[in-house]
Amino acid sequence: MAKFNLVVAIDGTAASGKGTISKKIAQNYSVPHLDTGLLYRFVGYKVLQGFDPISAANKLNMSELETLDLKTLKVSNAASEVAKIPLVRANLLEFQRSFAAQPGGAVLDGRDIGTVICPNADIKFFISASAEIRARRRYEELLGLGHSISLKKVLEDIQERDERDSNRKDSPLIPAVDAKKIDTSDMSIAEVYESVSRVIEAELKK
Ligand code: DC
Repeated sequence: MAKFNLVVAIDGTAASGKGTISKKIAQNYSVPHLDTGLLYRFVGYKVLQGFDPISAANKLNMSELETLDLKTLKVSNAASEVAKIPLVRANLLEFQRSFAAQPGGAVLDGRDIGTVICPNADIKFFISASAEIRARRRYEELLGLGHSISLKKVLEDIQERDERDSNRKDSPLIPAVDAKKIDTSDMSIAEVYESVSRVIEAELKK
């Protein structure tokens, strides 16, 4: 039997650090974590291979997803494109909601977790940072993964995706009204985590 039930929704812009923070929360509180961006990346990857986005989303396969290289800029862009399609979003919704409903809770990160997937989450965060800082972080991450890419290209990709993700009609990237907003531009991971865990500890004491 789990000690508590904790559902944490973490939304934010591309490469804002939400993934790193989500993983740390999940580890610290021993709850499962879902990076929902990977689901859209899986569909984007399939579209680049010539599949139909709606049926690819319908046939989401987590074991296959784990074997694919989904972190390229090409896949990021394709993911952001397929994420505009309401039936793609609808096909991925149930999986995300069931993940969040596990006993003990879960941490989910994405763009619409606090607004659409888990509107009743115990805690919601909205993580952002300036586009330049996010681009540098993602650039370094991609270099570390062995990709050869320019900083300029990464910045353009981030700006393009922010624009597309924020302006689509279905489930746009917007903070939930009850989300705690954190701008990580001038913060280290440790500082962000400290701020986030203060909120979680306070919630758990309630
Ligand atoms: O978090 P990420 O950068 O891996 O996400 C890739 C794309 O997927 C992002 O540009 C928009 C889309 N996405 C979404 O629309 N909703 C989510 N909950 C997560 C990602």
